Amino acid sequence: MRVLDSDLMKAYARMATDGFQQGWHERNGGNLSYRMKAEEVAALRDDFTENGEWRVIGWQENDESAFPGLAGEYFMVSGSGRYFRNIELDPAANVCIIELNERGDRYRIVWGLTEGGMPTSELPTHLANLEVLKERDPEIRIVYHCHPTNTIALTFVLPLDSRVFTREIFEMVTECAVVFPEGIGIVPWVICGGRVIGEMTAEIMKKQDIAVWAHHGAFCCGKTFDLAFGLMHTMEKAAEVLVKVLSMSPVKRNTITPDQFRELNEPFGIHINESFLYEKKDGTIGQLPEA
Ligand code: 13P
Ligand code: ZN
Repeated sequence: MRVLDSDLMKAYARMATDGFQQGWHERNGGNLSYRMKAEEVAALRDDFTENGEWRVIGWQENDESAFPGLAGEYFMVSGSGRYFRNIELDPAANVCIIELNERGDRYRIVWGLTEGGMPTSELPTHLANLEVLKERDPEIRIVYHCHPTNTIALTFVLPLDSRVFTREIFEMVTECAVVFPEGIGIVPWVICGGRVIGEMTAEIMKKQDIAVWAHHGAFCCGKTFDLAFGLMHTMEKAAEVLVKVLSMSPVKRNTITPDQFRELNEPFGIHINESFLYEKKDGTIGQLPEA
């Protein structure tokens, strides 16, 4: 089968368009990676060119990296400098499929990027995340990075603290605590494309499904495109509500209490991490938990 006709390519392109329509992908902002299933590789293999050059997987600092946990796997990845708004129009020019070698320290392009170019500059960060996620749950295949406006805005006014950020987001839409009961990890501003930010994000992904990059954007993971997109969408919706509330008042008159959050656990079959359910002094938005 041709990659262009596959359900995988269609689902990938649809997610890119959905993200663009949300306003999360100005210019070349954002990137998307998918660890392919063996049966998808087998079905599409005839469409691959397997004589491409093996390249090092370098961080921005140019030091090489290796992802032995992903050795021999194939990934669908967006191209560096490519615009998400163009992916659905011309997937072959804007997306590629890469193969990792048997040591997990080199990759080659086997399909796509027909007009040249490289996989996303965040490739090592995606692979670092996909490696820890595969260990956590082999069904998690997607890592998605975008620039969601309201979430970014909140990184300028909320403390850059996972507990506070998560709790404030949880309070804005009941669904959040159900969809990501392990909350949101926060990475302070660090240069993107580098090892430090990549490793900090992967550390978060060991336990949590979302990492917010202060003053830049967010990363999330998922088993399917629907779940990964839905996760980002849910957080960003809550962030939008919080931005609207903050534009009216620095204080919430009414909100969801810790005991009300605990009521969700049993009926929804979740366990909301208790570290987010600390007591607050009053309704002031962004207050730190007492030591
Ligand atoms: P790329 O175009 O290299 O994917 O970079 C976009 C981006 O959002 C970097 O953080
Ligand atoms: Zn970015």
